[in-house]
Amino acid sequence: MGAPRICIVGAGISGLVLGRCLLRRGIQAVLFEKSRSTPTRNKYGITLYAAAYRPLLRLLDIEESYFRNKVAVDASIGGHGRIGSGKDSNEFRVNRARLEGFLAEGLDIRYEHRLETLEQLPNSTVLQFGNGSSYETQILVGADGVHSQTRKCVSPETDYKILPFVVFNGKRRVAPEDFSRNLQEYFKDRNIIEANLNGVLFQISIDDYESDKISISYNYSRPAREGEDPLYRPTRSKSDATNIPEAFFSEIDGHQLKEPYRTVFSSETMRGDRLLNWLMRTMQADEHVLREKASTGVVLIGEAAHAEPILGGHGAHQSIQDTIRLFEILVAKEDISKFYTDRFDQWRKSLHASEQRIHDMHKSLKTSL
Ligand SMILES: Cc1cc2nc3c(=O)[nH]c(=O)nc-3n(C[C@H](O)[C@H](O)[C@H](O)COP(=O)(O)OP(=O)(O)OC[C@H]3O[C@@H](n4cnc5c(N)ncnc54)[C@H](O)[C@@H]3O)c2cc1C
Ligand SMILES: *[C@@H]1O[C@H](CO)[C@@H](O)[C@H](O)[C@H]1NC(C)=O
Ligand SMILES: *[C@@H]1O[C@H](CO)[C@@H](O)[C@H](O)[C@H]1NC(C)=O
Ligand SMILES: *[C@@H]1O[C@H](CO)[C@@H](O)[C@H](O)[C@H]1NC(C)=O
Repeated sequence: MGAPRICIVGAGISGLVLGRCLLRRGIQAVLFEKSRSTPTRNKYGITLYAAAYRPLLRLLDIEESYFRNKVAVDASIGGHGRIGSGKDSNEFRVNRARLEGFLAEGLDIRYEHRLETLEQLPNSTVLQFGNGSSYETQILVGADGVHSQTRKCVSPETDYKILPFVVFNGKRRVAPEDFSRNLQEYFKDRNIIEANLNGVLFQISIDDYESDKISISYNYSRPAREGEDPLYRPTRSKSDATNIPEAFFSEIDGHQLKEPYRTVFSSETMRGDRLLNWLMRTMQADEHVLREKASTGVVLIGEAAHAEPILGGHGAHQSIQDTIRLFEILVAKEDISKFYTDRFDQWRKSLHASEQRIHDMHKSLKTSL
């Protein structure tokens, strides 16, 4: 008998990593992705940690410097995604779109396939997609992220928690001459800078260098206030993420900032940017339910199974580590529920550490900008 037929729902970080690892062993999995194939999706920077990407590169037999050169936020100007502050050998900034493009090479990805329902047969699962097509598989890997439809099918009752922080994220494209005039000297050869002003955190990062524009993004974050806080909206709808309250701009105007924060966090310019209100969501799927489903050949990895807050979280890191562990189990043809035995404790610890980290990031320091 050949390798079991494996389908992966979601071509995000964990789905692509799994697909590539399997392909390297000659196993062609089929990936289903709800989005269209567009190189402009996910064009932002994320931090990758050596403890996750080095084992991955070893499995794929890829040189680290080659990899960093291909996927770093500053790859187009020959950079290696330097973070600065002496941490560079252990972490670097990748442009997520570039990372996904790199991983997708050679994979069988069916775009515009949104999973809707699952049907369990005695020895297989049938996946049903939004466009009416369906597909039968022996092993189904749900790698469809924090809003996972796979999880909703197998474990409908999942509790989310929203941590009490106010977070806004913005994106802007800056002309090269404005970048060199206002920003370059503060970044030097780094790709991310931040300042804490009495517990309010201002972060600016470089996401990409294109010939005509430099893409930057910024985060504004602080703990939610006790009592009334018009900017803390834990029950807001998904579509209200782009609905930015006027109170946000007045709050921004109330800060006395120095450069380069004054230029970047100018409410007037920010009104023209793509702004998002982020919720610091955490989640952990039910261990017993997942174990039970593993026996039917359905397994969840990455943020489909557990989510850390975006700020302070190491979601991509956990997703890569999950995937490597599942890959080992799949190629050894071991019982899939072993995956959860190995990972659930790790998820709990990591979630706890991320909650501590987001708290520490916003400690009120006695410095000023
Ligand atoms: C702006 C931003 C910055 C971040 N920065 C960092 C960072 O610095 N460090 C870090 O460790 N983490 C970071 N994260 C978190 C990190 O991106 C996630 O933890 C990671 O992508 C999770 O991987 P995943 O594969 O589980 O899910 P995802 O990468 O979210 O992939 C899920 C995929 O499934 C697809 N999908 C969803 N539903 C369906 C469906 N029904 N049918 C088919 N396909 C579907 C989605 O389109 C998506 O492509 C950041 C996240 C964001 C948004
Ligand atoms: C399912 O698998 C079992 C055990 O491997 C086998 O005995 C049975 O015939 C299979 N059923 C179907 C419908 O294929
Ligand atoms: C629908 O699914 C089929 C079968 O997998 C696929 O070939 C086709 O491209 C999809 N069509 C659309 C419009 O998504
Ligand atoms: C904003 O937060 C995300 C998640 O922690 C991080 O990846 C990104 O780099 C941050 N942006 C900036 C500008 O620092």
